[in-house]
Amino acid sequence: MTEKGAKTAEKAAETAVQRCIEPACAGTFGLRERIYVCPRCGGSIELDGPLTARGDAPHWGHLGKRRRASPGARDRSGVWRFREMLPFADQTPFVTLREGNTPLYDAPRSAHYCGLAALRLKHQGMNPTGSFKDTGMSAAVTQAVVLGARTVVCASTGNTAASLAAYAARAGLTAAILLPRGQISAAKLAQSMDYGALVCEIDGNFDDGMRLIQELGEDPAIYVANSINPFRIEGQKTVAFEIMEQCGWEVPDHVVVPGGNMGNSTALGKGFQELLDLGLISRLPKLSVVQAEGSAPVARLFATLDSSRPPGDNSLPATMAPVSSPRTLATAIKIGAPVSWKKALRAVLRSGGKVIAVSEQEIADAKAMIGRDGIGCEPASATTVAGMKKLVASGHIAREESAIGVLTGHVLKDPDYISHYHRGTLSLDAGANDGAAQPIAGTFRNAPERVAATRAAILEILERRR
Ligand code: F0G
Repeated sequence: MTEKGAKTAEKAAETAVQRCIEPACAGTFGLRERIYVCPRCGGSIELDGPLTARGDAPHWGHLGKRRRASPGARDRSGVWRFREMLPFADQTPFVTLREGNTPLYDAPRSAHYCGLAALRLKHQGMNPTGSFKDTGMSAAVTQAVVLGARTVVCASTGNTAASLAAYAARAGLTAAILLPRGQISAAKLAQSMDYGALVCEIDGNFDDGMRLIQELGEDPAIYVANSINPFRIEGQKTVAFEIMEQCGWEVPDHVVVPGGNMGNSTALGKGFQELLDLGLISRLPKLSVVQAEGSAPVARLFATLDSSRPPGDNSLPATMAPVSSPRTLATAIKIGAPVSWKKALRAVLRSGGKVIAVSEQEIADAKAMIGRDGIGCEPASATTVAGMKKLVASGHIAREESAIGVLTGHVLKDPDYISHYHRGTLSLDAGANDGAAQPIAGTFRNAPERVAATRAAILEILERRR
């Protein structure tokens, strides 16, 4: 950046505010106030500031290329290379692990499976700790450093924890993470242990952990890094900028993401909205969110809205009924009371997208299909492809429309699930309230074969597979 550009960025970071999203309140608070909900009305908070980004899409295209080729850590990070769009002063000591800059893959088999002519998958699981959380964590842990916090905390279904543990380690901060005991994948738990976090396994689910975190956040020495933290969203919104770069600034018709705590959908919606406000894109992609049937409070709410309102009415309901005992094998999104539901729903409604739910079988089969494209992902991520198949069937996405699915976690995040699916032994345990265990069919199963250690036996089995 030129000296003049740096000064403008500095000024804008100073004039940005944290703002309550409730129109009747719209309270504003300084960037250094450690708040996660509006201190006046309890509403959700988001960053609002004059964006210093200037120039048109070709200018951003050139800038993107130049920065990605530069050796500097700030230019190489997929978050900090968009610094003109972030509420941080230019000299901020940023915390980075080279997050972002993830691939956008063509997925022809998955496209065919969904009934689409083409499908692209933005793989956020290719981040340093294997999930999309890293872009947001880079910004949230940087803000923790700016505020002089020594301890950062989160509740997590595993990925936020792994990411926070890694970024806190980079910054020399203590991380304490609350995980629902026995309900997260061993791989994610192992990451948090390795990165040196204090791992607290609680007797409760994610929503219990989230409530505890909000209480802990009242302590001035503790900084909360869940997506209720508006700085997390700032880092995570950069995925929208990357998607536009990778699409050559041609707006895709649809972007589809999984929904758990609803931070990711909030962030994508904010990113696209900012590009629209800056005139860098001329319309919003339709943003749709997909939840797992057993943990789908926002999809349920959306279904009631969808059927009861006149078109164009985008007002937001005041409350959302939580799911008290969420169930899904996609443990990353086993969440019954998502904290960012309102911000996410606002983004979906503004864009003309939908919030839907898919079954355990649909998630498992979509996941196997993504694997057949040579891409792979963790179960929660596969809700996007399962959701797209449904959205095509219902006519919301047309066959020839351009669609991007966001994959949120790496294939190795949950190897037990994969192994059970391909051996035909995957099953959703009996729920607290409604009895029966639910077996999942290995529709596209690919179990290992036990073969004699001879050339002939191997050639014979190869012949059978052809
Ligand atoms: N996909 C994966 C792999 C996730 O880990 C999560 C959330 C989501 C999708 C949903 O994203 O919450 O922003 O709507 N994982 C959180 C965690 C809750 O603690 O790791 P969201």
